[in-house]
Amino acid sequence: MSEVRIAGVGMTPFGESPERTSRDLFAQATNEAFADAGLEPEVVDELFYGNFMGEFAETQGHQGPLMAEAAGISAPATRIESACASSGVAVRFGVNHIRSGQADVVLVGGAERMKNISTAEGTKALSAAADALWEVRAGVTFPGAYSLMANRYFHEFGGSREDLAHVAVKNHEHAIENELAQFQMAIDVEDVIDAPTVSEPFGLYDCSPMSDGASAALLVSDEFAETHDLDASIAITGSGQASDSLALQDRVSIPETPAGKQAGEMAFEDAGISPEDVDLAEVHDCFTIAEVLALEALGFYEPGEAITAAREGETTIDGKLPVNLSGGLKAKGHPVGATGCAQVTELTKLLRGDHVNSDAVSDATVGLTHNAGGTVASCVVHILEEVDQ
Ligand code: COA
Repeated sequence: MSEVRIAGVGMTPFGESPERTSRDLFAQATNEAFADAGLEPEVVDELFYGNFMGEFAETQGHQGPLMAEAAGISAPATRIESACASSGVAVRFGVNHIRSGQADVVLVGGAERMKNISTAEGTKALSAAADALWEVRAGVTFPGAYSLMANRYFHEFGGSREDLAHVAVKNHEHAIENELAQFQMAIDVEDVIDAPTVSEPFGLYDCSPMSDGASAALLVSDEFAETHDLDASIAITGSGQASDSLALQDRVSIPETPAGKQAGEMAFEDAGISPEDVDLAEVHDCFTIAEVLALEALGFYEPGEAITAAREGETTIDGKLPVNLSGGLKAKGHPVGATGCAQVTELTKLLRGDHVNSDAVSDATVGLTHNAGGTVASCVVHILEEVDQ
């Protein structure tokens, strides 16, 4: 079985791009990935592209061939939709294609436009990732659904709004020097607590924003990397994916995310490592509680114990497990279809040593990405490792 290497990565700045459609954004991200890899578009065997709400935001479906055109390739192209995990799943499709020998070079990535519509329209579009019959009909939106998870977490395990505020403060701090991030500004705990309420217990700073953006990565087999003398020192050594019931009400436990646990265990087993081996993680912090739930699901903490991790400095840039050094979804931004691959893009740079935050983690060789759809009804986890070439 071929080993999967990351030959090149690209990402647009996340934020507001009023003049540019998602095809423009994806073209920019893929151009960067080709330049980073030193490869031409002709070498691509297959494209897997993540997008969630293109029909709603841009009245654009059938995006596989459209994005192949934007990337300048003529290979088979497939759009993947898995809510906010769309491009994380696209990465997994790329990994599986190379491992099975069906392809030597796969372009993966995603794009989303959300800032060209109002927050109300965006909220409605996003709610299509929840259960239309039982949740959306009752008025549940994603800030509302994650609020239910946070309140139930407090009820079962303890913790406070202030503990969650430290997650937001940390992720904003990590994004300050990241020019691709939507928010490059520091906030403090008081800012988070005093911000307008979105859905109790969340205020503005507990939420990821609406964002425009795109991300891309060129995955190649180790044989292709060797034959073409590529500088591809980061391998994807583990991949896992799992699903859960779409509606929160059908879960056994509201403040736990078994799909995150299963996807993590699958990825760890695939890579032959355990949580203790991970030096860095990019996890799906669409709301502050989501980072806590992710760290517990992945086995970095027992249930009920990650709530104080940011507050205690354990997940900060100088902590024992730096989490979301890119700024995470909270501060880097969350153009939903682009997010999963953007985690891979940022982690690749962090491990290679060419990310603005790399110097702080220069000994890191193993990283993990955790990308969730809905209230973690889908989850995909990847392990990235620096390897000898
Ligand atoms: N964090 C920090 N600042 C934010 C922000 C966020 N999440 N969202 C918006 N802002 C800032 C804007 O930059 C703007 O600042 P400015 O006045 O200095 O320019 C200000 O807040 C108002 O922005 P606006 O876009 O009008 O905010 P809004 O009140 O319409 O929407 C939220 C804010 C939090 C409700 C919206 O971003 C949201 O719904 N987020 C969740 C998205 C989501 O559910 N994603 C899927 C996850 S599963």
